[in-house]
Amino acid sequence: MPRDVFTPDGARAVTAVAPAKINLHLGVGDARPDGFHDLLTVYRAVDMWERVTVSFAGGAAGSGDDDEITVTGPGAPQVPTDRTNLAARAVDLLREEAGSDARIAIRIHKGVPVAGGMAGGSADAAAALVATDRLLGLGLGRAALEERAARLGSDVPFCVRGGTALGTGRGEKLATLLHARAEQHVVVALAAGGLSTPRVFAELDRLRAERAYPEGAERADPEGAEGAEGAERADPEAAARVRAARPLPRAGGVEPLVEALAGDDPAAVAALLANDLEPAALSLRPALRKTLRTGQEAGALHGMVSGSGPTCLFFCSDRDHAIAVAAEISESGVAREVRVTRGPVGGAHIISDDPSGVTGPGVDSTGK
Ligand code: C5P
Repeated sequence: MPRDVFTPDGARAVTAVAPAKINLHLGVGDARPDGFHDLLTVYRAVDMWERVTVSFAGGAAGSGDDDEITVTGPGAPQVPTDRTNLAARAVDLLREEAGSDARIAIRIHKGVPVAGGMAGGSADAAAALVATDRLLGLGLGRAALEERAARLGSDVPFCVRGGTALGTGRGEKLATLLHARAEQHVVVALAAGGLSTPRVFAELDRLRAERAYPEGAERADPEGAEGAEGAERADPEAAARVRAARPLPRAGGVEPLVEALAGDDPAAVAALLANDLEPAALSLRPALRKTLRTGQEAGALHGMVSGSGPTCLFFCSDRDHAIAVAAEISESGVAREVRVTRGPVGGAHIISDDPSGVTGPGVDSTGK
């Protein structure tokens, strides 16, 4: 390990990017004793990127001056700039491992919605791990970085790896789905404000408990979904009672989806998408129902809440279709902002390693 990497010189700057994730399948088990839920998920990385630059800031960590953390881009004011920031925790972890006390400045540029259910904070941590590993000359391989990533958050290992992967455990155990090459074009509808992931998981637990033991509601035919749809329009209160008498649906196995992802039919893939967190996100943010309806009416193959929400995703047959659906959603005014993206893309990687530390790379808006 070169000695001078531990000498704060205020010069070298390393920049890495990491992608947003979507969950094509998000099956959530019951709460575990550690507070997490067992997941069975199919992650896919999409073409929206967080960009993190780390550089020596001069001075020693813990000397009273915290590392400087600056955040730019959409939603930046909502991102903490103290040690709770996930990118800062990634830097702390590797700095300790390197036995370094160098102060490290962290610059984050947001390209992923904040608290939107697309792992923006996890992508910051993934990019920070990859960049800091290089800055400190640790030379950890991908497997070691993913192990450190799992200590920082359930989605962080996937943001390091990218592509399409099966996630188990609390989401941190990954198996890349090598054959899942089918490209997807997705409209991303951003909502005003965020949703807290722990709150959405807790709401799912609450809804499941309530529906397992509904108060004052007779148990109805659990297959009666169509009846409830019709009743929703005619009598929302009666529809709520029918819903309350049905256990929440649970996403099944992933085999059919994995098979469809190896083919090239976007409609076949769209028909198999599932998100167990959706009812909880809709319960906390009922306005999202209108967003989902608008996307369906605009002709999307499938619409669903992204992870814990409140971002909504609309799956389309190709890029032109996605642009047309995006235009309609945008015009309807149901979303704060609408973007078109595609996946899969790769994982976290370095885009610039600048020994002179000049402000950073010339990158386009995708962060590449
Ligand atoms: O792992 P991460 O820090 O991203 O998780 C944030 C929160 O989301 C957890 O504290 C927990 O409340 C919830 N969570 C969960 N089960 C998971 C992943 C996250 O309950 N598998």
